[in-house]
Amino acid sequence: MRTSTFVFAALAAFASRCAAVGVVGTAEGFGKSTTGGGSATPAYPKDIAELTTWLTDDVARVIVLNKEYNFIGSQGTVTENGCRPASNKCPGAGGQDAINHADWCTNGNAGAGVTTIKVTYDKAGVNGINLGSNKSLIGIGSAGVIRGKGLRIANGAKNIIIQNIHITELNPQYIWGGDAITLAGTDLVWIDHVKVSLIGRQMLVTGGSASNRVTVSNSEFDGSTSWSATCDNHHYWTLYFTGSNDLVTFKGNYIHHTSGRGPKMTGNTLLHAVNNYWYAVSGHAFDIGSGSMVLAEGNVFQNVVTPLLENLGKLFSSPSATANAACTAYLGHSCVLNAFGSSGSFSGSDTSFFSNLSGKTIATAVAASANVAKTAGIGKI
Ligand SMILES: *[C@@H]1O[C@H](CO)[C@@H](O)[C@H](O)[C@H]1NC(C)=O
Ligand SMILES: *[C@@H]1O[C@H](CO)[C@@H](O)[C@H](O)[C@H]1NC(C)=O
Repeated sequence: MRTSTFVFAALAAFASRCAAVGVVGTAEGFGKSTTGGGSATPAYPKDIAELTTWLTDDVARVIVLNKEYNFIGSQGTVTENGCRPASNKCPGAGGQDAINHADWCTNGNAGAGVTTIKVTYDKAGVNGINLGSNKSLIGIGSAGVIRGKGLRIANGAKNIIIQNIHITELNPQYIWGGDAITLAGTDLVWIDHVKVSLIGRQMLVTGGSASNRVTVSNSEFDGSTSWSATCDNHHYWTLYFTGSNDLVTFKGNYIHHTSGRGPKMTGNTLLHAVNNYWYAVSGHAFDIGSGSMVLAEGNVFQNVVTPLLENLGKLFSSPSATANAACTAYLGHSCVLNAFGSSGSFSGSDTSFFSNLSGKTIATAVAASANVAKTAGIGKI
């Protein structure tokens, strides 16, 4: 190869790599029409202040993270009375103490035998950044890390894509230490290839007011922790879906080393849980409250002690090929069987909510596979 040809080829490869900076793919399922920052020019925030400004303003933006943004210490620390809740039966050996958020320590919720202790926590972790509308927040390779701060998509902010970033270290030693991603009053959110680890409270919340159309895909919820509310190095507060008529597609996610609330559902959310992989869950995965609707297909439950804690709502667990044929009229495909290994039972055959799926954009389903562990999370696209 002549040198000029070689240089040209190298330049072309470089240019195509540059051109590739942007959101990869589109959402499947309910959040399909999310466009985020659209065709805005990708820009790299220089520090946490610029990242915060760009996320919170009302300009459509494609924000690219190619390094770590560390918020720890940026708002100082707080020392005040918190508590050792009844659940912490392993003090000094990996339990989780609590911040007295909304009087949780003193209003009875921390259980009998709660004791007051001093807690010191990082202030940046307890309140997330409030995003404006029309944002794409994306990471390069495995480099895009937000340490010590969560994200809130609330109060009408909508049309947001978060892809290929890692949110970590929000006061993991404390219950109420912070939530990684909170949705509360939004529409059209796509969370994709995000990793969440070492969080004090919930890894993902769709809470309070309506979240409308949401897709969470190919993301990793890693519950490995040295501060476990269940004293076993597994994080308890994983996914909490409440809200009002929320439509959540949850596809291709890897939830592992957790012990509870994965997900806990209240309100009347309709959840399509498809092709996810639950692994090494020492407590429960689903806890379905009254009014909530769950269609679960093509998932793997491996070493999940309690796939279903309680079902007070409606659950279709894709129980048999015969029953699964009922999906075709509403989803455009026959539902796919879930797979179980060394796990408890998970069963429901309620089809009464299928009419809610009519006219909606529905994610496809493939056969249940543990390969999700290799495709979910940061650095996999
Ligand atoms: C977001 O984008 C939509 C579509 O371009 C536009 O109508 C809306 O005003 C934008 N919102 C904000 C807060 O800029
Ligand atoms: C499901 O259908 C019921 C009855 O039509 C309706 O009241 C409810 O809002 C629907 N929920 C969702 C999440 O679409």
